[in-house]
Amino acid sequence: MLLTKIFTYAVLALTSIAIPHVNYNGGTNTTYVGPENGNLVIVGGNLKSERIWQRIIDLAGGPIVVVPTAGGEPSYNSSFPAALSLQRLGANVTVLHTYDPAIADTDEFIAPLLSANGIFFGGGRQWRLVDAYAGTKTETAFRDVLNRGGVISGSSAGASIIGSFLARGDTRNNTIVVGDHTVGFGYLKNAAIDQHVLVRNRHFDMFEILDANPELLGLAIDEDTALIVHQNEAEVFGSTYALIYDRGFWSREGTSFDNVPAPNARFYFLKEGDKYDLGAREVIVLGSASSGDEEW
Ligand SMILES: *[C@@H]1O[C@H](CO)[C@@H](O)[C@H](O)[C@H]1NC(C)=O
Ligand SMILES: *[C@@H]1O[C@H](CO)[C@@H](O)[C@H](O)[C@H]1NC(C)=O
Ligand SMILES: *[C@@H]1O[C@H](CO)[C@@H](O)[C@H](O)[C@H]1NC(C)=O
Ligand SMILES: *[C@@H]1O[C@H](CO)[C@@H](O)[C@H](O)[C@H]1NC(C)=O
Repeated sequence: MLLTKIFTYAVLALTSIAIPHVNYNGGTNTTYVGPENGNLVIVGGNLKSERIWQRIIDLAGGPIVVVPTAGGEPSYNSSFPAALSLQRLGANVTVLHTYDPAIADTDEFIAPLLSANGIFFGGGRQWRLVDAYAGTKTETAFRDVLNRGGVISGSSAGASIIGSFLARGDTRNNTIVVGDHTVGFGYLKNAAIDQHVLVRNRHFDMFEILDANPELLGLAIDEDTALIVHQNEAEVFGSTYALIYDRGFWSREGTSFDNVPAPNARFYFLKEGDKYDLGAREVIVLGSASSGDEEW
């Protein structure tokens, strides 16, 4: 009996060590942090690069619905700039918009989503997407696009809405980081997503979110750059950087980390081609650790 008890304690001890470190995704390991099927293309605003638009089109592989609602204009039509950018590259695009959740909850409104393989959320204020679509048939239909293996993409406000925690969701202005709307659509679980990060010197703002919600992973993406996510893998794609806030630190030089601040004040940069394991919360290091030492 004593042996059984000791054995039980040993198992408990092992379990409590293993779960948080091996594969953290918010207390369960039944699902991935990103989508099990399909892809997310999360762009840090000011999306200009044709190759990012093209990547969205390729990953979708079919009709794309553009949702301009974050923008706050009185009305929208098919000339919405993001729709034109996608159309120019040959995509089949529908612009879908309402501010009224009662309309968003109708079968008529969601019809274009039923045959869509892609969604693109435009920029503006992210809380408008919540007020219009959260809890409606439209929100379910967005998620179904992903479940069918499609792509959900967005830029700026359309990037932040993808996280489970809604960064900068306040209705007053976009400088309030933890605001009156804090729940995003959650295609990326246990994560907060910020955008325009380097161009606007926003790189310290994430700490306010993480101090209040220490379980979250923070991701901040710079302009015209994307994080492409499938299951637990996120890859940087674009001309600048994505910033990772996971309490850790990483350098491609593999140097010792003597000069980094305390865990709650750390972040680091990943560039195009770098891959990150959202489950393990660590950089996926490919091949030998090359530091590009030809340029030191
Ligand atoms: C968690 O899930 C991943 C992906 O399914 C799997 O590879 C990993 O072994 C799991 N980890 C644990 C601790 O169960
Ligand atoms: C579409 O919207 C744009 C921007 O609001 C406007 O300039 C244009 O006249 C609209 N086109 C049509 C056909 O209504
Ligand atoms: C665009 O996609 C819709 C929905 O699948 C389809 O009905 C329509 O025929 C397509 N248009 C073109 C030009 O392919
Ligand atoms: C944002 O709103 C808050 C609360 O009303 C206010 O204190 C702050 O000055 C505003 N910031 C800007 C840049 O307008």
